[in-house]
Amino acid sequence: MILAIETSCDDTCAAVVDDDGRTHANVISSQGIHDAYGGVVPELAARAHVERCDLVVADALRTAGVTLDAIDRVAVTRGPGLVGALLVGLQTAKAIAVARDLPLIPVDHLHGHVLACTLQPLSFEPPFVALVASGGHSFLARVEDPDTIEVLGGTLDDAAGEAVDKGARLLGLPYPGGPHLERLAADGDPTAFAFPTGAKVRGLDCSFSGLKTSLLYRLRDLGEEQVAARRADLAASYQRAIVETLAVRVERALELTGIDRLAVGGGVAANGPLRERLAGLGAAVAIPDRALCTDNAAMIAAVARFRPAVDGDERASLEAYGNGQR
Ligand code: KG4
Ligand code: ZN
Repeated sequence: MILAIETSCDDTCAAVVDDDGRTHANVISSQGIHDAYGGVVPELAARAHVERCDLVVADALRTAGVTLDAIDRVAVTRGPGLVGALLVGLQTAKAIAVARDLPLIPVDHLHGHVLACTLQPLSFEPPFVALVASGGHSFLARVEDPDTIEVLGGTLDDAAGEAVDKGARLLGLPYPGGPHLERLAADGDPTAFAFPTGAKVRGLDCSFSGLKTSLLYRLRDLGEEQVAARRADLAASYQRAIVETLAVRVERALELTGIDRLAVGGGVAANGPLRERLAGLGAAVAIPDRALCTDNAAMIAAVARFRPAVDGDERASLEAYGNGQR
């Protein structure tokens, strides 16, 4: 039985997962204190983790119907993420591991998103191509087996979720914009406006800055009255451009690798039109439940099943790595 802790951003998460990939608890405490700022405030996130982490761990154990006596290993997100936020989860995991003399397994957050689909009931096994698209990250990976995760492409500027949120904001929608944009777009015509998808740019990297700028200029050119009258069309067209940007790269990755299995993760995977578009690519597609797509600790446990544990001095000196570090 693995106890996993994840605090890389603004969700305080703990999970209990067994070696067969069955989830006994997956507790996610969303801080809900950042919306007013239009984005996550690192210092506030770290403080909120301090207040909640022990409670969330206790909640996970209670939900799983076990005590620490039943736990064999402790897993924790080591990075990438906000360093102050990561430290809270890492210190909590270390403390539990040292006190109970349990092995500690450091896990890369991105590997968590990639391998979330390996948990039951999906139990989607490699080889597969993984698309992870969230507010913090956007990338494609080739997963030959749980130990071999090769990043094929990323983003040259914003993550897909950021592009969603920034566009939604320009359209006057609240943060985080994804669900609002999708709802507004449902009443609009996705072909009403032509936004760039970078389909002609070769390779597997995405870029969203041109798209965002294009929306900004379009809003300016239309003027307030027209924008108000055509908000749904604007939302639908903008959303379509994001979906196309991702889908074109996914299609290329499937072709390049010759793998016809696709796993999708990250908050943007909740998007209906994206799911439909990817389902039409002809590959076997696995998209975990929303609770496993967004940040959670069960996905950290999913990875921990395949990673070595550290003990003794190595366990005590384990450090977190932030964004852009490794
Ligand atoms: O994985 P996630 O919950 O958090 C992190 O970024 O770590 O992803 C959040 C992102 C936000 O940018 C949000 O706007 C986007 O996922 N999102 C969506 C939808 N629901 C959430 N984007 C498009 N359509 C949605 N239905
Ligand atoms: Zn994440």
